[in-house]
Amino acid sequence: MPDTWEALEHDCKNCRECSLWETRTNVVFGVGNQNAEVLFIGEGPGANEDAQGVPFVGRAGHLLDDMLEIIGLKRDDVYIANIVKCRPPQNRDPLPTESEACMPWLREQFKLLQPKIVVCLGRIAAQQMIGKDFSVTRDHGKFFDKQGTLFMATLHPAALLRNPKSKISAFEDFVALREKIEQVCDHTYNRS
Ligand code: URA
Repeated sequence: MPDTWEALEHDCKNCRECSLWETRTNVVFGVGNQNAEVLFIGEGPGANEDAQGVPFVGRAGHLLDDMLEIIGLKRDDVYIANIVKCRPPQNRDPLPTESEACMPWLREQFKLLQPKIVVCLGRIAAQQMIGKDFSVTRDHGKFFDKQGTLFMATLHPAALLRNPKSKISAFEDFVALREKIEQVCDHTYNRS
């Protein structure tokens, strides 16, 4: 695997490790600050992301931006990626084989970034990154230390759009995230 962001992105954009390449418009590699201490991980691109090649640019993405803003962060303060980099047709869940085929890209992004905190957006990301029996309903907002990196999951912004009442829970998670950032991050709130 390449050891620079540029080379990794280049290789990822040519990936044909699973059949999703056949229906994609763009590979959605990831976006944000390559020195970020906080990594957000979603499930996979939807139609807008596939069209633009950028994660979380549709309605769910705008909500994510709003949630970030509430805790004083911008997109460029964090890094945002997905479990799968290509859109599953009809927005279905990624198949386990597709997630496994795509995970090496995320592992390399993780290695380059070395984040202090990983925030999983929704069940697919949480079960892949934290544990296969993870329940977002039960365990959202809790931090898990995995080899020195703190992992947390919150509700997926698309789920918040479907069920606005759960925004309260997600808001609490973001407040907890903000407190954790203040405790463990060095530069997230005061980059010049
Ligand atoms: N949902 C996701 O999980 N990821 C995106 O990039 C967009 C919507």
